[in-house]
Amino acid sequence: MSERHRLSILGCGRAAGTLAGLWLQQGAVSVHRICNRTPASTRRAVDRLGQGVAVDRLQALFPADILLLGITDSLLPEIDRLLLNDGPPAVKVVFHLSGVHDAEVLAALRTEECRIAAVHPARSFSGAAISPQRFTGTPCIARGDQQALALLRDLFLTLGADWQQPDALDQRLYHAGTVFAGNYSTTLASLARSTLIEAGLPADSAARVQTRLMRGVVDNLAEHGVLSSLTGPIDRGDATTVEAHLDALQAFPELHRAYLDLARETLRLAVEKGRLNASAISRIADLLAQHD
Ligand SMILES: NC(=O)c1ccc[n+]([C@@H]2O[C@H](COP(=O)([O-])OP(=O)(O)OC[C@H]3O[C@@H](n4cnc5c(N)ncnc54)[C@H](OP(=O)(O)O)[C@@H]3O)[C@@H](O)[C@H]2O)c1
Repeated sequence: MSERHRLSILGCGRAAGTLAGLWLQQGAVSVHRICNRTPASTRRAVDRLGQGVAVDRLQALFPADILLLGITDSLLPEIDRLLLNDGPPAVKVVFHLSGVHDAEVLAALRTEECRIAAVHPARSFSGAAISPQRFTGTPCIARGDQQALALLRDLFLTLGADWQQPDALDQRLYHAGTVFAGNYSTTLASLARSTLIEAGLPADSAARVQTRLMRGVVDNLAEHGVLSSLTGPIDRGDATTVEAHLDALQAFPELHRAYLDLARETLRLAVEKGRLNASAISRIADLLAQHD
């Protein structure tokens, strides 16, 4: 890509700040203006990127080629009103990074000159800088106006994104799916660590056991898919072991409840896999019902 786009950012936090830093490394953009909620945060974002001018009025973000909205999801439905205060913004493309909203949340900003889009990078940004190599392969789910998507596609491809433009998407279900994978897996890691610590492992050992196990599962899932990756007592039809777990967990009601919910879903998967016989299925199902 030869063109270096002039990028303004409203909400240069963890996600937008990381992407802008990666594009700067690739020479794909020049960062023009940045506006965060507080002036101190805006100055920190400018310092971190080493480029751009801190502004405290939305209209000072323009003119620009691209406006990246990295603000909190809940602000998006009202951002058009704020941006349109002084007339149509002088920018070719406005896009946001939210997974729960589609591009149409920005519909009021659409003009002949200004096109809208939404691009959700399916990865977790903690705020720490990441290398372009680590971003490579990140699925970026894009919706919006064709002209905007053509420009953004080129920009995201400079980072090695796995660019996807689904024809139709239930946005809320899509985002719930990403929360299962990206967010609730963290909750699962926390449940695993708590249980291992209650069992007597020191915290650092519990962290290593949980991390290794989950890393192995993620590798298996990528290589072999869900059903082939399923292991453990339910997959083996071992009701006695599941019973031992549930008895031990009764002293910890929250862990017990979470285990029971996950065990039910795991039994459903094991049945789908088709290797359990009918008596093993009914023994485990009865056991889970008794503990409900
Ligand atoms: N983080 C992720 O892992 C991730 C992954 C994919 C997509 N996303 C999406 O990226 C977007 C941003 O998420 P994030 O995690 O990067 O959030 P974040 O780190 O909390 O950053 C939000 C930014 O918005 C600014 N902001 C908030 N209210 C504002 C206002 N009224 N006016 C101007 N700026 C305002 C904040 O400024 P202050 O610092 O001054 O408060 C901050 O710079 C969301 O749509 C999210 O769904 C995030």
